[in-house]
Amino acid sequence: MFQRNRLRWAKLALAIPVLAGIFSILLSPWPRAQGLSPEQFILSLAAAIDQTSLTPRERLGLRLFFDSNLSEPAGLACASCHDPRRAFTGNNNTIIGVALGSRSDQFGTRDAPTVMYLATAPRFGGLEKDGKRVPAGGFFWDGRADTLEEQAKQPFFNPVEMNNADAPALIAKVAKSTYAGEFRKVWGEKIFDNPEAALDAVAESIAAFERTRVFQPFTSKFDYVMRGEAKFTEQEQRGLGLFTIRQKGNCAQCHIVDEASRDPQKSLFTDFSYRALGLPRSTRIPKNADPAFIDLGLCERVPVAGTKPGAEAPKPRVTDPASCGLFKTPTLRNITVTAPYMHNGFFDNLRDAVAFYATRDTDPAGWYPEGKKFNDLPAQYQANVDVDTPPYQRRPKQRPQLNDEEIEDIVAFLFTLTDGYNPEWGRSGYKPRAEITPPRSPIPSPSPPASSPASRSEY
Ligand code: HEC
Ligand code: HEC
Repeated sequence: MFQRNRLRWAKLALAIPVLAGIFSILLSPWPRAQGLSPEQFILSLAAAIDQTSLTPRERLGLRLFFDSNLSEPAGLACASCHDPRRAFTGNNNTIIGVALGSRSDQFGTRDAPTVMYLATAPRFGGLEKDGKRVPAGGFFWDGRADTLEEQAKQPFFNPVEMNNADAPALIAKVAKSTYAGEFRKVWGEKIFDNPEAALDAVAESIAAFERTRVFQPFTSKFDYVMRGEAKFTEQEQRGLGLFTIRQKGNCAQCHIVDEASRDPQKSLFTDFSYRALGLPRSTRIPKNADPAFIDLGLCERVPVAGTKPGAEAPKPRVTDPASCGLFKTPTLRNITVTAPYMHNGFFDNLRDAVAFYATRDTDPAGWYPEGKKFNDLPAQYQANVDVDTPPYQRRPKQRPQLNDEEIEDIVAFLFTLTDGYNPEWGRSGYKPRAEITPPRSPIPSPSPPASSPASRSEY
């Protein structure tokens, strides 16, 4: 264990300078953490973003996104859980797969997804796929917000996130901020007199910022290759093949890629559809200590911990049992820097997340306690889990859909999806290969980390 941790730290130490390079397009000089208060540190992350091309409204969105005074108590910004150095993920630095809120004993129940490449995500609705209609679109793992604007309002009031009492409480903080003058200039002198209108303005500013190039730079090696300005290695090319071929990984069925197009917008690595992967239950999520708590995803479509401080969200009645256990397919762009993975943050390593697809059905004992599959779903919803589409059409003891080498190839390909690629690296033979594992929390985790199934590996 000790060795493993040492290894992780060594890798993290290695990853930081590499990442600094990777994000050099997004970020200018590396901010120094030493001697800064948490508030100053978050502001230093914002300062590192190139703001020159942002409109006043977008810049206001940036200020709001990085303002750690907008939580109750103060100290938590959007950027605490959506850190630009980690492609806008980060869980406020926990190591339990889910985020810590503004109060030091309040944890959420889901992993914070990336905020990148969402600018063109459709509203919640449906999608025609293989002759079937599947749910797709919207924001959050369960699609409960239709637009980025609607999304941006929720974390401010979620008791396990920024925990503000109501719109007036939040807007009072914005009105006292260092950028209140800018806010009035963009939204009108009287904007703070009407907290509801001001809240709309907050959400619109943040959404405008989230739609900028900062969040969709399209500067990965993959994008350079698609534009004919770089070449994949043999292994990356093999990985792409395995990723797309239906009888191998079939990943592209949901994580869309269009190899024929030079338009990177066509390859967002998601179709925004909802699917049930039947992930193992994560024992390191504090709320999972209660066996009655089960995150059903799409069929509930509510903030899991309520929207009003102190209040649990009323458990909605399940009206569409066929959508229980389904979660949104996330983009795989920047996946190498967004660990942990999946809605419950179950996997710390990318290789494990890919291996799960290959051996979930051939070796369930490697993933589930006593090999009991789909142990995070009540029996009546387990039939929602896909067991027919490749790579999920295998049966116990059969050969896995992907062997170890093929898993490595896919992972190598996924490394080409990280933004900030420099074509010079290809010419000099330098290969940035870094995966970020979550840092240690400054706060002791309330439950021990999940025990590692036998087939989990250190990447
Ligand atoms: C305490 C950590 C935390 C904070 C603070 C936080 N978020 Fe999040 N964010 C999350 C988590 C966790 C989810 C997924 C929640 C869910 O699906 O129910 C999420 C989801 C999102 C999504 C949806 C992504 C997608 O793929 O649909 C966006 C966009 C987002 N957050 C933006 C913001 C903004 C803007 C703020 C500040 C106003 C913010 N977040 C504050 C943790 C956080
Ligand atoms: C049937 C649709 C589908 C297919 C096929 C599929 N995925 Fe996924 N993928 C999803 C969904 C849905 C999630 C989120 C599931 C959850 O968290 O509950 C996901 C999540 C992931 C994640 C974690 C993303 C994150 O940000 O946490 C990775 C990595 C991933 N998939 C890689 C792959 C690879 C590699 C393949 C091919 C071997 C593949 N997927 C095939 C639908 C699919």
